[in-house]
Amino acid sequence: MIPFNKPFITGKELEYIKDAVSCGKISGNGIFTQRCQRYFEDRYGFKKALLTTSCTDALEMCAILADIKVGDEVIVPSYTFVSTALAFVRQGARIVFADSRMDHPGIDEDKIEELITPKTKAIIPVHYAGVACDMDRIMFLADKYNLLVIEDAAQSIDSFYKGKPLGSIGHLAAFSFHETKNINSGEGGLLAINDDRFIKRSEIIWEKGTNRAEFFRGEVNKYEWVDIGSSFLPSEIIAAYLWAQLENLEHIQKRRIEIWHQYFKGLNNWALNNGIILPVIPDYATNNGHMFYMVCKSEQQRNKILSYLRAKGVYAVSHYLSLHKSNFYLSRYNGDDLVLADYYTDCPLRLPFFYELKHEEIELIINIIKEIK
Ligand SMILES: Cc1ncc(COP(=O)(O)O)c(C=O)c1O
Repeated sequence: MIPFNKPFITGKELEYIKDAVSCGKISGNGIFTQRCQRYFEDRYGFKKALLTTSCTDALEMCAILADIKVGDEVIVPSYTFVSTALAFVRQGARIVFADSRMDHPGIDEDKIEELITPKTKAIIPVHYAGVACDMDRIMFLADKYNLLVIEDAAQSIDSFYKGKPLGSIGHLAAFSFHETKNINSGEGGLLAINDDRFIKRSEIIWEKGTNRAEFFRGEVNKYEWVDIGSSFLPSEIIAAYLWAQLENLEHIQKRRIEIWHQYFKGLNNWALNNGIILPVIPDYATNNGHMFYMVCKSEQQRNKILSYLRAKGVYAVSHYLSLHKSNFYLSRYNGDDLVLADYYTDCPLRLPFFYELKHEEIELIINIIKEIK
């Protein structure tokens, strides 16, 4: 069986975890946490980076920082993972769902302005498959209506929009290091803060509503309860694991992008002849080799290909279910039909994608797909 995902282990993870344990400080915000955070700040120009235990946590921190209150509206694409909306719902927001683009599962930038009302507080673009949304257009709307932009960059490590790193453009951004991501720590995430207004408070929210980070730096004599927050920071064990991954980021990225191109070259003609759409990378975006998906003509065709691949030992999978039709949100949803969110619920499939996937295995997968009548 070729699995859909296999988390890559660089080989240094256990050594660094041992170092963290030997240091005698394995709670959060120690040497490895700070090393990882500095890496992100230096490499991607985030004003501040804070490791979290997941992207979901980082999004929850964003919802608190954005001061989302009951009745505020937040614009979120319907075709995304639950957490993109959930983090804001927990603060009492009403989610206003936007549709996807025809040529890309990400948010349709043309449809955002008509969803803005006096209650709108934030727009949450999701860079699906690590491919950027058109951020200039989204930032223009945010300026015009005085809104916050929070990038859901869960899949977007080392990807760029017009040369700018994803996660550095919105006021805030959230990344995931879940085991399915390009670099991972099992579970894990990152909050990137690009607006000075949020820096001080973000550390407090991160540390259970206390000013403990200031205390550790020797800036105050005692730390105390100063705000709301939670325990959003990971232990040093997770940060040590992540550091081993970060040291290999360029190497991992290079291989993942090669895998993506092998799939694309191998399937391009077949896809054209079978009415199947392969990923489109707009001129303004880069491809970070996060996933390889194909959009079928119909749910039936998608399911037929999935079943055929499974029968041959290849574990391909579908992806998100549109959130406006979810069990949780359907009765709360009073917006328009979102035809493209439904289309992306029904039609895409994702092929196995992980660092150790071999050239021959990719060839095999391509050949099996081409057998399907
Ligand atoms: C777009 C998006 N946002 C958020 C998340 C949540 O990430 P995590 O599992 O790190 O909380 C995911 C998970 O894959 C995702 O795809």
